[in-house]
Amino acid sequence: MDAKKAAGEKSAEYISDGMRIGLGTGSTVYWTIVRLGERVKEGLRIEAVPTSVQTEKLAQEAGIPLLPIASLQAPLDLTVDGADEVSPKEELIKGGGGALLREKMIASFSARFIVVVDHSKCVPVLGRFPLPVEVVPFGWEITSKQLGQMGCEPVLRMRGGAPFVTDNGNFVIDCRFGSIPNPGELSVELNKLPGVVENGLFVHMADLIVIGHSDGTVRTK
Ligand code: 5RP
Repeated sequence: MDAKKAAGEKSAEYISDGMRIGLGTGSTVYWTIVRLGERVKEGLRIEAVPTSVQTEKLAQEAGIPLLPIASLQAPLDLTVDGADEVSPKEELIKGGGGALLREKMIASFSARFIVVVDHSKCVPVLGRFPLPVEVVPFGWEITSKQLGQMGCEPVLRMRGGAPFVTDNGNFVIDCRFGSIPNPGELSVELNKLPGVVENGLFVHMADLIVIGHSDGTVRTK
């Protein structure tokens, strides 16, 4: 069995009747959405806030009722999302799919945050995966220089020969740090740059990591 499928499907078991949930973005949480769609058809009553336009479409196709973010009076019960790297302290790099801002906003307004990954995402130290940083398009060139001065090799994310544009109309600069031993401090420093909207470091946010293996087994921590 696919390791992502194993983790994604397992996470759907944490969702129960009446919950209002956040739905992350990516190929692992895809399996959570598919499984939840099946459970909705069997009678599960949930409402979901998607973290991207891509997930919104998937959830609609799966028949999962959506909740407008503007209607949230209290935090969501649970959010499930993927990650690009997970450290032994459950710190994350996210944003490989470019949805990091909405993902962080929705995870921060959730009582519980469950992360679904395949085993290859678990690393001893964050930073081999280039850290996605969402920046405003205006003056991205100077923001990129400022990011470079923080010890990384910054690369503007491109798609089809043009800058990749997020669901929020911003650009993404992928920052190759190599190693990030102090993600909490780095996250604070990155967000001090005026051109930075948000960065893909998720520190002290994950409550549970669901790790899928290629033999179909799942481990949680
Ligand atoms: C999107 C994300 C994704 O959750 C992350 O990139 C993992 O994706 P996948 O499950 O496809 O490996 O942060 O912005």
